[in-house]
Amino acid sequence: LFVLPVLVASTTMGKTPGLIMSAVCAVFLVFYQVLAAAKPFIQALESELFIISMMCVIGWFTGEMTDIAQQNQKQLKTNLKDLREEINRRQKAEERLRMLSGALEQSPSSVVIADTGGNIEYVNAKFTDITGCLPGEVTGKNMFELVDGLPHEQAEQIWHVIKAGREWKKEMLSKRKNSETYWNAVSIAPFKNPAGEITHFLWVAEDITERKRVEKEMARLEQLNLVGEMAAGIGHEIRNPLTTVSGFLQLLKRKQKSAEYIRYYELMLDELNRANAIITEFLSMAKNKVVDRKRQNINRILKNVVPLLEADAAIRKKHLKIKLADVPDLFLDETEMRQLVFNLVRNGLEAMPEGEVLTISTYVEGNEAVLAVRDRGEGIAPDIVEKIGTPFFTTKDYGTGLGLSVCFSIAGRHDAVIDFDTGPAGTVFYVRFKLQAVGGKQAPGINFDGP
Ligand SMILES: Nc1ncnc2c1ncn2[C@@H]1O[C@H](COP(=O)(O)OP(=O)(O)OP(=O)(O)O)[C@@H](O)[C@H]1O
Ligand SMILES: [Mg+2]
Repeated sequence: LFVLPVLVASTTMGKTPGLIMSAVCAVFLVFYQVLAAAKPFIQALESELFIISMMCVIGWFTGEMTDIAQQNQKQLKTNLKDLREEINRRQKAEERLRMLSGALEQSPSSVVIADTGGNIEYVNAKFTDITGCLPGEVTGKNMFELVDGLPHEQAEQIWHVIKAGREWKKEMLSKRKNSETYWNAVSIAPFKNPAGEITHFLWVAEDITERKRVEKEMARLEQLNLVGEMAAGIGHEIRNPLTTVSGFLQLLKRKQKSAEYIRYYELMLDELNRANAIITEFLSMAKNKVVDRKRQNINRILKNVVPLLEADAAIRKKHLKIKLADVPDLFLDETEMRQLVFNLVRNGLEAMPEGEVLTISTYVEGNEAVLAVRDRGEGIAPDIVEKIGTPFFTTKDYGTGLGLSVCFSIAGRHDAVIDFDTGPAGTVFYVRFKLQAVGGKQAPGINFDGP
């Protein structure tokens, strides 16, 4: 009976409570003997010594076992908690890693990671997008091989800078796998471990071809505006004396006495008209030239000018083909549009040999209405491509070099851009009118309902 509480205490609570319970039970046992059997204390103690020892042993041993089991359980719980925390930590680290590698993969810049020897270990998806090279084609190669035709000395110089722990930056003209050139803003920087040692090199590049194009376009427009403003300043002043001279020449031409010099008068008047036409072209380049833009369809304007263009083509023994698709109405100045089409068509006709066909077409492409003038001439020589649209640039004996400049400024006033494709089979000039403003808003004055 007395062993039972000891067993319960020691198995449920451990060694110390087990021993305390065995002591309490021993006291009760001895006192029970003293009181119930009327034995003296010492005798009662002696008679129950075996049971008391047994209780103590049971209390101690079972309690010890319980303590060990409890300790193990506690340890197990701590271990489990640590394990759970470790799993959480790893999950978070993995998520972070996934997020970082996702960001790297989807980065709008191309990223290349090279080892300390400059050998490529990783390239992201944008790199493949921009260069056209798959990761397998460049992994293991030296990163300087990515720059087509980089002189050895310059590569050495860059290497020296980045090895010293500094960043190297440059805008450079690069080549895609398909040999197309593009502008690239490259930055190469070392990255270091917590001990400050360089472990890798990070190459980040951005395709800035579009930015360069816009910069060039802006510079060209600035130049055009300058020429236009200068022209506006002096144009009128020159026109007045020209009108006077022209008036008197016409007066004199009609006189009887002038009959034998009529050819000279005509020549002088033609030259004055030519000078007047040049001034008119100059004036049309002024930035703040007043334009009268009305909602109308480019196809209608084209249909009006086609007979004139056909006559011009026929004189030169060349043909005209017109392909007009449905395009929405645009806000256009008819006179300026006529001038733009005339200049582009005249250039095309002048570039083609006799018997060839020049095609004028309109169509919608994405967010743009496009007017395209395609000729079958010899194309524009690569060394003059850069100069196209620069005022006074001409390769023709009697050209003024103002035709395309005027086209560019007309396009500028109509929120349109001009670009071109050229090759040995001919040249296409595209005038692209925006149909939609950035951000999905409708551009001012543009009708989406179509003609
Ligand atoms: N369709 C084309 N094909 C080949 N070369 C072209 C074409 N259009 C323009 N060019 C080149 O660009 C130059 C500049 O053209 P632009 O129209 O500005 O002046 P121009 O035709 O020489 O003179 P202008 O138009 O004032 O009579 C031309 O001289 C020519 O070399
Ligand atoms: Mg021209």
